[in-house]
Amino acid sequence: MADFRIVYFDEVDDPYQVTLLFQLSLFFPAMPNVLEEMRANDDRYTSEFGIFAVTRDGAVAAGHLLMRIPTATTRGRLDVGGVNAVATRPDFARRGFMTSIMNATHQYFRERGLDHSVLTTSGRLGAMVMYERLDYAELSRSHIAVKYPKQPRTPVPSEVLVRSFSDDDIPIVNKVYTEAVRKSYGFIHRPSDFLKARKYATGEMKPKENLRIAQRGDTAMGYAYWDSNPRISEAYEIIALDSQSFQALLADAEQRNPGAGIFVWCDGLTSLEIGWLRDAGYQVPIETYGIALVKSLKGKTDSRKLKSLYGVELGKFRLGLWDGT
Ligand SMILES: CC(C)(COP(=O)(O)OP(=O)(O)OC[C@H]1O[C@@H](n2cnc3c(N)ncnc32)[C@H](O)[C@@H]1OP(=O)(O)O)[C@@H](O)C(=O)NCCC(=O)NCCS
Repeated sequence: MADFRIVYFDEVDDPYQVTLLFQLSLFFPAMPNVLEEMRANDDRYTSEFGIFAVTRDGAVAAGHLLMRIPTATTRGRLDVGGVNAVATRPDFARRGFMTSIMNATHQYFRERGLDHSVLTTSGRLGAMVMYERLDYAELSRSHIAVKYPKQPRTPVPSEVLVRSFSDDDIPIVNKVYTEAVRKSYGFIHRPSDFLKARKYATGEMKPKENLRIAQRGDTAMGYAYWDSNPRISEAYEIIALDSQSFQALLADAEQRNPGAGIFVWCDGLTSLEIGWLRDAGYQVPIETYGIALVKSLKGKTDSRKLKSLYGVELGKFRLGLWDGT
């Protein structure tokens, strides 16, 4: 194996080397200003931000970003380590770079008192073999709900109005989320302005175009974020305080894009909302390749025990698309 050093982000001489790494491995054009924006706005990134392998001639061969994520378990709040944007340059692949980095990461998490390392990935990727070798095991599977245009439309509840989002709604969205997730577990502790904290600031998230608010009288009862084109409307997040408001958000999407398939990512939903989707005539839950993995940093990983800690089998676990690594 080539001679290399493992360093943190601020020790990399040229941040464009990190940009190139993410571009080549993940098709993620993370220009230095984008990385800085992510670091400044998403408080889940640790102060070291990323860990990388640098070769003797200064190439950043591999690396990933580092997170510390607050979660809710059946035994209370627990911070876990988060591994984000795992990447090895193709010209350095299969030489043990990522295995070395991951081992250093696990030590880094242990030194910070963390008992678990978590990451979200796709079961289709070769990376799964590496994660399994490193003793990562399944925490949860990603599911979707789907309805095609040939299927009956969701009835429009008369008492709930659905409207577009404006900047004044940011606290409303946060409030609805906090209230809706109160009795569930998982990745539910968000910063107060999570839209900004996640992707709002980078411009990838377009709430004015895509976020819809459900309200009953003057009270906001739910919201949904839809990414739409003529073939598909995809809900990255749909959260509501009651079944009618949830139904109103589905009916709104079906009406606004009548020829499209409606897809709802269920990762952030509990069995309660999955039931609401079923009531509205959706096929659900349908398994996808998405998977959340967890590794115990103290001894062998016991997937069953960790699922139980997070209420996965109880149907009370949430790991929304905006909350993954
Ligand atoms: C996944 C990835 C990070 C692996 O990095 P790497 O530095 O090549 O990993 P390592 O050399 O430490 O691999 C260790 C072991 O993992 C397994 N492994 C790694 N990549 C694999 C692949 N593509 N297919 C099958 N097994 C693989 C092998 O068992 C390998 O050991 P071996 O080479 O002795 O057989 C790299 O292939 C990559 O960046 N892929 C594209 C981006 C990506 O998929 N990231 C993960 C997103 S969650």
